Amino acid sequence: MEKLLAINKLSVDFTLRESTLRAVNKVSLSLDRGERLGIVGESGAGKSVLGFSIINLISKPGRIAEGSVIFQGEEISAYSYEQMRRVRGDRISMIFQDPMMTLNPVLTIGEQMRESLKAHMEVSTAQANEICLEKLRKVYIPSPEKRLEQYPHEFSGGMRQRIIIAISLLTNPAMIIADEPTTALDVTIQAEIMELLLELCETEQMGLILITHDLAVVSQVTQRIAVMYAGTIVELGRTEDIITHPQHPYTIGLLGALPQRAGSSGRLNQIPGVMPGLARIPRGCPFKNRCSLAAEICATKPHLRKSSSGSEAACHMVGTEQSTAA
Ligand SMILES: Nc1ncnc2c1ncn2[C@@H]1O[C@H](COP(=O)(O)OP(=O)(O)OP(=O)(O)O)[C@@H](O)[C@H]1O
Ligand SMILES: [Mg+2]
Repeated sequence: MEKLLAINKLSVDFTLRESTLRAVNKVSLSLDRGERLGIVGESGAGKSVLGFSIINLISKPGRIAEGSVIFQGEEISAYSYEQMRRVRGDRISMIFQDPMMTLNPVLTIGEQMRESLKAHMEVSTAQANEICLEKLRKVYIPSPEKRLEQYPHEFSGGMRQRIIIAISLLTNPAMIIADEPTTALDVTIQAEIMELLLELCETEQMGLILITHDLAVVSQVTQRIAVMYAGTIVELGRTEDIITHPQHPYTIGLLGALPQRAGSSGRLNQIPGVMPGLARIPRGCPFKNRCSLAAEICATKPHLRKSSSGSEAACHMVGTEQSTAA
């Protein structure tokens, strides 16, 4: 299959006064055309920083310290701001958690959609209107002609997120990066929006990187999952393999914390402790201080390697007797 995106050993550093913190550490990932990948992990794992670094939108004091991002055969990580601006919102769209951050409250939906379209292609107002209506229909906004004349506050949260998705579709991008797109919405609406994203990716052959802390959400939509912990990918594989046979103790912990897997007591299994701040990530395996299987060897850094389930896990203990017993 044709490669859409290849991230090679990408690291992102934040240079602060006293120290340099590494928020993304040698991450390698790839995406085929039309493929849907989930990035999951606890708050602070580096998911958003990774998402932004793909489109070169890391704000100071952050910077890409090493590695590269190749998109449709072009090394976009080496692009200037101006070159990148053309890729962003044209061939790659980004969707964020809070629609009100993206929508301008003083412009009608039609005004902002046309503006966003005209920033990327030369079209007359009539043509722009046609394209806007077509995209609003794609995201199932009822009576789109009327809706174009309305302001963001006249829509519900779920409808606003549909409009954001319609805006992201305006230029027929090859890939969408969605960072917690449904976290602000209630569960039923969340599921509808995910269903919509899934359908659009399939019909438009769009690649999707879905960033979320919610394993249930990614398992609904994606074909592969990358589990992130303290800036590194600790497990990577097919969604089904990871959900049914998680290998890394961290992934096992995350799945144990899903409400539907709570024990008969009804209580969630929690991973003990919290993810360390970037300044305090232990040497070797970043998870070792919270891991019940940690052994001496975990003082050396584990690398991703194939496990028996088919996924790759960065854990020395995967496949050992202790891990099977756990
Ligand atoms: N501007 C910044 N300056 C310094 N550190 C930063 C900056 N932005 C992010 N970081 C650090 O990078 C790390 C990763 O942050 P990131 O926002 O990617 O986490 P996340 O996985 O998206 O978490 P969440 O689920 O809460 O969105 C955090 O520890 C954060 O402190
Ligand atoms: Mg985030």
